[in-house]
Amino acid sequence: MNQHEQNQLRCGVVVLVSGRGSNLQAIINAVRSGRLPAEIRAVISSEPGAPALARARTAGIPTYTIDHREFATREQFDQALMRRIDACNPRAVVLAGFMRILGNAFIDHYAGRLINIHPSLLPAFPGLNTHARALQSGASHHGASVHFVTHEVDGGPIIIQAAVPVLPGDTPETLAERVLGEEHRIYPLAIRWFLDGRLSVEGGRVLLDGQQRPEQGLTHQETAHSDTPETG
Ligand code: GRF
Repeated sequence: MNQHEQNQLRCGVVVLVSGRGSNLQAIINAVRSGRLPAEIRAVISSEPGAPALARARTAGIPTYTIDHREFATREQFDQALMRRIDACNPRAVVLAGFMRILGNAFIDHYAGRLINIHPSLLPAFPGLNTHARALQSGASHHGASVHFVTHEVDGGPIIIQAAVPVLPGDTPETLAERVLGEEHRIYPLAIRWFLDGRLSVEGGRVLLDGQQRPEQGLTHQETAHSDTPETG
């Protein structure tokens, strides 16, 4: 089988970014190491100078910038994004620090294959500044969630979550770093489950191999041995 045929058999992914791209890096690393059998067909940024673009270029992945400021309306931006994504014919569309709110037409177009990572244990702390809000709330644990995207912002069915303890003396920065380590571990895993066809959604809940997963998915301790955390 030649390279082209092999690539066709692998599952296509398009990653949308806006910034630093450490989750993108974790996904790239997972593909490279063989832990995630996927083909990243494109990385698309809403920000021209996003460091994530440089990471993609270094990995030899085609990059595109679709600058939201160049469009009069969000719908036009979404349409341009959809055209670019669809040209790559991906199985999954992965949001990795993509900072634009997507419209319902976009979300409907990719329903069931649009995945996001959010830095909190949803449904706690949807939206921005999650680490500071978690600290303020006095929560003993915080974490990250990978979920399917639906019309409700940060409200879609949860694929996997990972919790970390909030430690005395934590600042939003130290807590963010601890959570980020978990993000880099669970995002490639969730994408692998999806591409392997192991996920289904029933009554708003995600099933893995037809089974309901425990609330908040895997904890740090339970999975520390199975997937090595990667940082970007
Ligand atoms: C991550 O914390 C992710 O959960 C959130 O945005 C951040 C992106 O970081 N959606 P990076 O660009 O992947 O480094």
